[in-house]
Amino acid sequence: MTAHAKISQVAHYVPDQVIHNDDLARIMDTSDEWISSRTGIRKRHIARDQQTSDLATKVAASLLEKSQIPAEAIDFIIVATITPDSNMPSTATKVQAAVGAHQAFAYDLSAACSGFVFALSTAEKMIASGRYQKGIVIGAEILSKTVDWSDRTTAVLFGDGAGGVLLEASSEPHFLAESLHSDGGRGQSLVSGIQGLHSPFSDKQEDDSYLKMDGRAIFEFAIRDVTKSIGKLIEDCQLTADDIDIFLMHQANFRILEKMAQKLGVSIDKFPANMMEYGNTSAASIPILLSECVANGNIKLDGSQTTLMSGFGGGLTWGTLVIKL
Ligand code: ACO
Repeated sequence: MTAHAKISQVAHYVPDQVIHNDDLARIMDTSDEWISSRTGIRKRHIARDQQTSDLATKVAASLLEKSQIPAEAIDFIIVATITPDSNMPSTATKVQAAVGAHQAFAYDLSAACSGFVFALSTAEKMIASGRYQKGIVIGAEILSKTVDWSDRTTAVLFGDGAGGVLLEASSEPHFLAESLHSDGGRGQSLVSGIQGLHSPFSDKQEDDSYLKMDGRAIFEFAIRDVTKSIGKLIEDCQLTADDIDIFLMHQANFRILEKMAQKLGVSIDKFPANMMEYGNTSAASIPILLSECVANGNIKLDGSQTTLMSGFGGGLTWGTLVIKL
């Protein structure tokens, strides 16, 4: 029998502290009007005393509780993040220890805002191989660690949060199609966490942990390249945009979603959005959105809806999955 993978449960968690655009306007030269009209963002959650693994652990614990599955039954945990607590140990191994998933192997995956889509694609292959039955895939970020709080061009855009899914073996196919892409040649348009050389045997280089972005270039990339690859994928699997019930897109900027919807000839009503509440949470944005859509009844997880999930960002990376949810 061929093995398939199915998303059987979803969860998300964000830190309590909410920072409104007006709060930012008190510490930098910006305004609610500028931020909300250019991006749609009105507020974001910012961690006060929690690390990325704390947010991811809340999500994993919630997935286990909601599904009533013992932690020992989990075969693997993947955390997509560009803001790990540390390079070593990984965020995922901290989650594994915290929830007691003693049988699981665990690792982090780094693909910026495409991280959750890339991780889910990888996890689906592991379940479809027949070797593993249950895996947890989480996107978790504390971007407030890497943002330069004196740079208004980036500081207003990002937030902290985590979301994830439980993936289980299924007899029915749910993952219908995918296309994953990278273009390292354009990598310098979005950078963070640059580590210099420090050894006495090297030419010294500077560290630069701050996130820096060529906003215009990323905006253009999203609208042109990402939309084109979404259109091609829909065509390749002999669907039309009308056949997709819901577009779960990376939540960077509402104007990007409007332009994508327009180019694809789809009503913006099919594009749920929550960057108003959370800002851009990179790898966490799609699973937070998915979890909210399940909570508010827009998505039922009963196999009746064709959804398209698409992430895009640093690397550059972009990737899209078509999934029966
Ligand atoms: N408040 C007030 N004014 C501002 C702010 C701010 N926060 N930021 C910039 N400005 C000013 C600029 O200085 C500029 O002023 P000037 O004309 O006097 O020089 C003016 O506003 C216009 O700036 P632009 O950068 O041209 O503004 P633009 O309309 O391009 O919007 C934005 C910028 C919102 C960043 C947009 O380019 C964008 O959304 N890009 C995509 C970002 C994105 O999607 N990132 C996702 C990937 S993130 C990841 O992978 C981790």
